[in-house]
Amino acid sequence: MKKIAVAGTGYVGLVAGVCFAEMGHSVTCVDIDEEKVNLMRSGVSPIFEDRLEELMQKNYAAGRIEYTTDYASAYEEADAIFIGVGTPEQPDGSANLSYIATVARQIAESVVKDCLVVVKSTVPVGTNDKVEQFISDFLVNDVRVEVASNPEFLAQGSAVKDTLYAERIIIGTESTWAEELLTELYQPFNLPIVSVNRRSAEMIKYASNDFLALKISYMNDIANLCELVGADVQDVAKGMSFDDRIGSKFLNAGIGYGGSCFPKDTKALEHIAQQHGYDLRTVKAAINVNTDQKTMLYKKARNRLITFNGLKVAVLGLTFKPGTDDLREAASLENVPLLLEQGADVYAFDPVGAENFARVHPEGQHGRGSITYVASVEEALQDANVCFIFTEWGEVKAVTPAMYKNLMRTSLVYDGRNIYPVADMQAVGVEYHSIGRQA
Ligand code: UGA
Repeated sequence: MKKIAVAGTGYVGLVAGVCFAEMGHSVTCVDIDEEKVNLMRSGVSPIFEDRLEELMQKNYAAGRIEYTTDYASAYEEADAIFIGVGTPEQPDGSANLSYIATVARQIAESVVKDCLVVVKSTVPVGTNDKVEQFISDFLVNDVRVEVASNPEFLAQGSAVKDTLYAERIIIGTESTWAEELLTELYQPFNLPIVSVNRRSAEMIKYASNDFLALKISYMNDIANLCELVGADVQDVAKGMSFDDRIGSKFLNAGIGYGGSCFPKDTKALEHIAQQHGYDLRTVKAAINVNTDQKTMLYKKARNRLITFNGLKVAVLGLTFKPGTDDLREAASLENVPLLLEQGADVYAFDPVGAENFARVHPEGQHGRGSITYVASVEEALQDANVCFIFTEWGEVKAVTPAMYKNLMRTSLVYDGRNIYPVADMQAVGVEYHSIGRQA
């Protein structure tokens, strides 16, 4: 078993670290945040992720994982250093690589034996060539340091499962030494490994994420057309899904994709294409469809109601998808401010995301409108004039059509996640608007 250091303890770094420890490697996770390190040492996960805390505690007790702010000692001993720091979007759509550069510099100054640096973070094609050059420029000791690309495909909410039982491991290397070492590290996972060159590995990540974003935007586009021509997008998706070439996943039309990855990676690839003088029309179209999709229901409701002023608006779900407390690029972040601006009294329910949302929009008055966070869907719906569903949490799906009818003042529901069969809502007299289906 090998000694592994992991830089960054966000979704990518921490989950990778914990899973490598679970596979028997000896792992040290490095983060600059002392408070976070202490928290992790006490067995608490800084992120909400199924099974993560349990595996953190198990592997910490077994002595296979440690957390530290002392990067030098962690990197000194490592056979491989995984980089899982963020590459946030910059105003022009490009990826901010400053966190990667900081870690690369620290590695160059710390390593005392040959080691492989493995970049898991999503980076523009060609970045890892530069990281390798950068490390070699700043290298203090006479050792061999190579850089490999090993993009991450985990989704938030199922991160541990996605890592332990990944459909494929992509390794992008430029030497047999790097390829063999990385293959050995993944051996205990017993998963299919696709070994390619570094640039192809970097590209596989963008091409995969952007394809999925495109697939969703395509279905949203089709959904909008379905409404106009009298078709039902869920039936259309079902009919399409039986074709193996299309597949059944990611065909759900809705309020648009959110999260930290699809919005960022579509813009980043478009930016990369632009830099090479290429117009990446398909991805551009996906971005445009998604932007419009996010406020589609709000606009429909505004037309129907004329104004939100003084209305009680129930908002069910704030996060960008269920199973996470993450709000990045969530549809709620677009829609709630619009509702508040219009003078709505918003009553928001989210089982785990409310606290994060309240940091951006604190409870209380906001101009003419106000926001109140409630602990149950019933409280949100009680006497409401209109309801928006932004996230398909289990707690939201458990609300029966009759509850909307009985609890709300006016049972007017805008569902961005197509949770209910239209007929079930209509049967109890709810005015139900969803995506790509007939009202
Ligand atoms: C995504 C990818 O699925 C992962 O494979 C990838 O590793 C990750 O990005 C990343 O690059 O780190 P994630 O953003 O966590 O994972 O979430 P997804 O489950 O892919 O959902 C993204 C968004 O698409 C959500 O807002 C979801 O509601 C939406 N979506 C998904 C739809 O609107 N329709 C669908 O059919 C599926």
